[in-house]
Amino acid sequence: MAFDIDMIKKVYAQMAERVDKAREITGRPLTLSEKILYSHLWDGTPSKAFQRGKDYVDFAPDRIACQDATAQMALLQFMQAGKKSVAVPTTVHCDHLIQAKQGAAKDLMRANETSNEVFDFLESVSNKYGIGFWRPGAGIIHQVVLENYAFPGGMMIGTDSHTVNAGGLGMVAIGVGGADAVDVMAGMPWELKFPKLIGVKLTGKLNGWTASKDVILKVAGILTVKGGTGAIVEYFGPGAKNLSCTGKGTICNMGAEIGATTSTFGYDDSMERFLRATDRNEIADEANKIREYLTGDDEVYENPEQYFDQVIEIDLSTLRPHLNGPFTPDLATEVGELGEKARKNDWPLKVDWGLIGSCTNSSYEDLSRAASIAQQAIDKKLKSKSDFGINPGSEQIRYTAERDGLLDVFENLDATIFTNACGPCIGQWDRSDRKGEEKNTIVHSFNRNFSKRADGNPNTHAFVGSPEMVAAIAISGRLDFDPMNDTLINEDGEEVKLDEPVGLELPPKGFAVDDNGYLAPTEDGSTVEVKVATDSERLQLLEPFVPIQDSELQGVKLLIKAFGKCTTDHISMAGPWLRYRGHLDNISNNTLIGAVNAFNKKTNFVKNQLTEEYGGVPDVQRQYKAQGIKTIVVGDHNYGEGSSREHAAMQPRFLGVAAVLVKSFARIHETNLKKQGMLGLTFANEADYDLIQEDDTFNFVDIADFAPNKPLTIEVVHKDGSKDVIMANHTYNDAQIKWYREGSALNLIKKQNA
Ligand code: F3S
Repeated sequence: MAFDIDMIKKVYAQMAERVDKAREITGRPLTLSEKILYSHLWDGTPSKAFQRGKDYVDFAPDRIACQDATAQMALLQFMQAGKKSVAVPTTVHCDHLIQAKQGAAKDLMRANETSNEVFDFLESVSNKYGIGFWRPGAGIIHQVVLENYAFPGGMMIGTDSHTVNAGGLGMVAIGVGGADAVDVMAGMPWELKFPKLIGVKLTGKLNGWTASKDVILKVAGILTVKGGTGAIVEYFGPGAKNLSCTGKGTICNMGAEIGATTSTFGYDDSMERFLRATDRNEIADEANKIREYLTGDDEVYENPEQYFDQVIEIDLSTLRPHLNGPFTPDLATEVGELGEKARKNDWPLKVDWGLIGSCTNSSYEDLSRAASIAQQAIDKKLKSKSDFGINPGSEQIRYTAERDGLLDVFENLDATIFTNACGPCIGQWDRSDRKGEEKNTIVHSFNRNFSKRADGNPNTHAFVGSPEMVAAIAISGRLDFDPMNDTLINEDGEEVKLDEPVGLELPPKGFAVDDNGYLAPTEDGSTVEVKVATDSERLQLLEPFVPIQDSELQGVKLLIKAFGKCTTDHISMAGPWLRYRGHLDNISNNTLIGAVNAFNKKTNFVKNQLTEEYGGVPDVQRQYKAQGIKTIVVGDHNYGEGSSREHAAMQPRFLGVAAVLVKSFARIHETNLKKQGMLGLTFANEADYDLIQEDDTFNFVDIADFAPNKPLTIEVVHKDGSKDVIMANHTYNDAQIKWYREGSALNLIKKQNA
């Protein structure tokens, strides 16, 4: 059903040869991360050593996973490639569009009503193009991937930042934007800057109240939210072998919170146990045959300082439980010290909710350890002082946990069991107890706790901990509760103490599930019709972009000269606009509305040169478009930083912007502009930014000679008729110039497929 053993056998068959070659070329032993990277080169067997943090390298990932919010535009784009089916195994998971409110059954029914057109579209497009489809309620993407698709030594990409979770099963799994996923689905290579490497050596063994979650909470405290940027975090050492596979998943999952490219662990017995428990004996057998290739070389782990760019050591035996927050996941505090800190900072001590689950912490082990605390509360006649909400990670976990009585335990404490979906973790939480913006505290076992993340309230102070610690804190109702030392008063007025949590790594009776929610695609999808209603406001089939003609690049009008920071959020805002992610025309109404106009320092207020009137950016742009006039956007440094969302390039392109000329680009956005067939240019002389005036018109005088390494000449005509001639640099290579000439990268692929 799910995994593709032939593909895995192929990966393993070439791994030995490629890793041996990489060792020879680099002249040294290799880390696990390097083994996986070098064995997934697009060009096959390695022929040169790459410089970490410098070289851009083309890779050939083994799998792709998409979630329902990001899959919409990715698949709409993929349909443009003219392919019969996806080039690598791909799955779509419906987990983000389900709101948590009254409990699983009702919430799922409501989601199926409100988002049915999106689900129907995703199901039909998956069926047509050979993509595995996981229905709403089947589970959270990363847990489903860990249970079904992840395999040691593999490389995958996913259109969600927590794709990194699959590192728990020894993968290099990386979160990407939709445009990257589309490339790989269409059979193109995937480019990544060869990452730096951070080694985390784990010694000792977890004990008492300390959980796997505390490892990453500690690491986040050390490295901070930016400390992992551009790096793979590789965990090793005797302590790593003592962690469960799903515990490793938790640690890798939150690697996203330190900005890491991904995190991973070497193949070991815990992974083998998990593979066998999840019905994947064949993978375990194959992995066992090449075990030494699925972990770092001994010499690397014996002298990590020599081979990693940075090394951290953590002794699990002495690690203490943490609660990180509020508002940032790297504000690490040991339980027991939080009360004082909270009082000093005036954080509310009363805890309103304890939320357990999300892709980070929703394994069987997690639920069993938290349930052991909940059961004690019942046995010791304690009533939970906070509300409880539980999001199981998958239907398989939910079904098994129900069979084994774990869910009953939570329900006996009046917990609400939400759908197997993201829910409060992505702000899909219709919270009943607080509707205003009052200051309040919640604890959860999720990964992110930024302001407004769970419930949209900027005054909700969210603290991140392990599931068992969340359970204990929720039962006590107090943020300063330390279950290792403090007691609670029960219904009979007696003082009681919670014992240490106990849990089960894997269900003793095995996993079970009735309907796991998976729909395999049909063999031949050629007759399958993709479902998109013509009057839909959330979905719209894409039309291929028409190539920009050289003649259209004379008399180009300035749309906006953006001042200061202009991130992808300024170019294509999130929030309520997420609803239109699959409808390019509708979402284009947010184009650049967050950018600051350099001439009046206002947002969404630019001059229409045709009418001399001021208006919103999308409105003014649509008026230029109606007249067939192309426009240009001028920007400052690092234009387009932030997320990799392709909408930030597609929307201006759709509305008729032809060029973006800036002091410098965030690289991913620059590439996205190229892919959409636009001109992404930088000022050869940064000071020329100051020459641009509000009523300027631009003539691209030598666009007919557009070629690699040759700057373009632009004549800037001011309102009074005076002119400045400026030079614009670009980084287009031959292939990318073809994308531009064809109107987009996908147009070119389609042409090549025809
Ligand atoms: Fe993202 Fe869903 Fe996990 S919102 S953080 S994938 S639970």
